[in-house]
Amino acid sequence: MTKLRVLIIGSGGREHGLAWKLAQSPRVEQIFVAPGNAGTAVLAQNLPIAADDIDRLALWAREKRINLTVVGPELPLALGIVDSFRLARLPIFGPTQAAAQLEASKAFAKRFMQEVGIPTAVSATFTEYDKAAAFLPDGPSVIKASGLAAGKGVIVCDNRAQAEAALRQMMVEREFGAAGDEVVIEERLTGPEVSLLAFCDGKTAVALPPARDHKRAYDGDQGPNTGGMGVYAPPPDVDAALVDEIMRTVIQPAVDGMARRGTPYVGVLYAGLMLTPTGPKVLEFNCRFGDPETQAILPLLDGDLAEIMLACIEGRLTPEMVRVRPGACATVVMAAPGYPGAYAKGLSISGLDAVPPDVLVFHAGTKNHNGQIVSDGGRVLCVSGRGDDLATAVARAYAGVAALHFAGAHYRKDIGR
Ligand code: AMP
Ligand code: GLY
Repeated sequence: MTKLRVLIIGSGGREHGLAWKLAQSPRVEQIFVAPGNAGTAVLAQNLPIAADDIDRLALWAREKRINLTVVGPELPLALGIVDSFRLARLPIFGPTQAAAQLEASKAFAKRFMQEVGIPTAVSATFTEYDKAAAFLPDGPSVIKASGLAAGKGVIVCDNRAQAEAALRQMMVEREFGAAGDEVVIEERLTGPEVSLLAFCDGKTAVALPPARDHKRAYDGDQGPNTGGMGVYAPPPDVDAALVDEIMRTVIQPAVDGMARRGTPYVGVLYAGLMLTPTGPKVLEFNCRFGDPETQAILPLLDGDLAEIMLACIEGRLTPEMVRVRPGACATVVMAAPGYPGAYAKGLSISGLDAVPPDVLVFHAGTKNHNGQIVSDGGRVLCVSGRGDDLATAVARAYAGVAALHFAGAHYRKDIGR
């Protein structure tokens, strides 16, 4: 069997999680991460190439005979990295630019879901402020910038005045730049949320364990939205029957619909859903692994991740490849003081060699500064605990957190509780 030389693109906790899991594959010979962090540097070789510098990444991958590239973040996918690598005959795991529109354009995703009949909130899309404002309902609504806005382009509104302010922010003040050129106004749904990620090979889709993340900065779901302060998998209220229902009503119709359009979906398709009184409905699609979902989901995967990814690329994915271990996993994010607002960098991290052996520490924003690991981002460390049940997993994750220190670290105390 050909040995694999793997390139992972990105620099967060998700990419450290991918490197950790791929390193367990017997076929993987060497891993590179561009640009990576202090955690990936231990398992892999970091490369000083930015995640969106597609030309340099492709040149480098060709020169080093990389035979599996895995893309972490959405931006290079939206920019067409998969199309470029395929042209250069470089095997790459992820959707093409056309298929990545499911995340890159919420307006596209809504049109697609309506066409294909995937359950989602009722919505309308606008490019002009006046027309959008005239459409607003008096009651609650959700205003979404259509383009990529780093998770910040969604504003949940209680009433018309709030919604008008949100529209103004996006369409007049252009706070999210071109991402707000098109705006989706959506019915506000209610219910618990769940994320379901599935491997897709263009025809077949196989679910990973469902996960639930905590987006707000502080305990009790208070404070500003973040990229995610923690996550657990699987949520006890999401059983196998519900996962099957979501696969049948959302994921498989999406994969079939993309194939019919001539833009087959290869990679991970991530559906953010609300479990409403009338069934699961899609809030958004992402065209990649979630961060921090990946750090709680991959520890539950028993299958060979490199094999699964190659099978997706080659159109031969089977459910048997995606073996999942029983039990649960919880991930707590330790963030820099100030995050998600302005935050300090360069804080010395201690305790990395003191975490209990059953705890996994995935670096998010870290770097090695003259031999000392220091913070280099808002989300600094992701601490994952596994257990036979959720309570054990949560307790283990927090035991890991207790061993780790940097000045002003903040984390939620209620992940999975
Ligand atoms: P999104 O990026 O589209 O997943 O939205 C971010 C968050 O906004 C979601 O996790 C939900 O908490 C909330 N949200 C998005 N759409 C809706 C909706 N139609 N109704 C209620 N809440 C929503
Ligand atoms: N945790 C949400 C995301 O990765 O989009």
